[in-house]
Amino acid sequence: MKILITGGAGFIGSNLAKKLIDRGDEVVMVDNFNDYYDPQLKEDRIKKFLKGYDFKLYRGDIRDYDLLKEIFKKEKLDKVMHFAAMAGVRNSLEDPFLYEEVNIRGTLNLLDLAAKHKIKNFVFASSSSIYAQNKKVPFSEEDRVDHPISPYAATKKSKELMAHVYSHLYGLNVTGLRYFTVYGPWGRPDMSYFKFADKMRKEQPIDVYNRGKMSRNFTYIDDIVSGTIKALDNPARYSIMNIGGDREETLMRFIDVLEESLGTKAKKNMLPMQPGDVKSTVADISKLRALGWAPTTRIEEGLKNFADWYKEYYKD
Ligand SMILES: NC(=O)c1ccc[n+]([C@@H]2O[C@H](COP(=O)([O-])OP(=O)(O)OC[C@H]3O[C@@H](n4cnc5c(N)ncnc54)[C@H](O)[C@@H]3O)[C@@H](O)[C@H]2O)c1
Repeated sequence: MKILITGGAGFIGSNLAKKLIDRGDEVVMVDNFNDYYDPQLKEDRIKKFLKGYDFKLYRGDIRDYDLLKEIFKKEKLDKVMHFAAMAGVRNSLEDPFLYEEVNIRGTLNLLDLAAKHKIKNFVFASSSSIYAQNKKVPFSEEDRVDHPISPYAATKKSKELMAHVYSHLYGLNVTGLRYFTVYGPWGRPDMSYFKFADKMRKEQPIDVYNRGKMSRNFTYIDDIVSGTIKALDNPARYSIMNIGGDREETLMRFIDVLEESLGTKAKKNMLPMQPGDVKSTVADISKLRALGWAPTTRIEEGLKNFADWYKEYYKD
């Protein structure tokens, strides 16, 4: 299979590329290497993490319809995995227009070309943030998600809606996966666990909201990759699925294990709950499980792998 991965230099995209190339798929990537976080990390994912791997990389923007048109025409793709996005809830409040352009317009460009080129399966990244202040746990795909509370979450909801339109009108197979807090080596520096590690390295205190009593489904990158590939291999006319770990962990426990893995104790600012923060973000993953997938990595193993990578990457 020849597969286009958008956001191929990103955390999830680069890990997917590695797995797909390993199993014999042909991979084409597009990424604009923007500076939302250190672009050197993106370069290193390509040059170091994917060293020795064979793939084609287009340095370009998914907002550029003509570029994408050329890629689809030239590459004769079978499937698309759409992971390029402006990620990050908080940053979307700073620049909602950019989030709208990249996440909505960029996705529309790709859906349109995927339909025109009769792509066999279009898998894209949605997000658990779409559940906003959902009170009912675990979060199910059947729950109503009509009240997003950030521009980022609203763009993810829009992607799901637009994907439905293309599935309905043009028979495009689409699956949207709602990711729950992904962590691991080569991860994203804007995410809490990575920022905690940075602060611990610099001996600065970390802010722990609600005294660490929030619970989350932290999901290790290898489990994310195997689940995402399950969706890729099982095309559906239109499907939305949660993808998250199967153990509810408190933030405090997560920090304890991170400290052990890094071999450092964090100075902690214990703070009350932040307005708008959610106490529990836990996924119902039965839908993806029905395809034969199960997350297998405990945080003890996952954070150890992250810490080993982190210490090596930032050793100088
Ligand atoms: N990591 C998580 O915990 C998580 C949780 C929920 C959803 N997601 C979603 O999964 C997807 C991948 O996330 P990630 O964690 O790998 O993030 P990431 O930021 O590491 O990867 C996204 C990649 O897309 C690229 N990109 C951004 N805008 C682009 C544009 N206009 N044109 C071309 N490339 C562009 C970036 O340069 C980056 O390399 C995103 O859609 C994100 O919203 C991730």
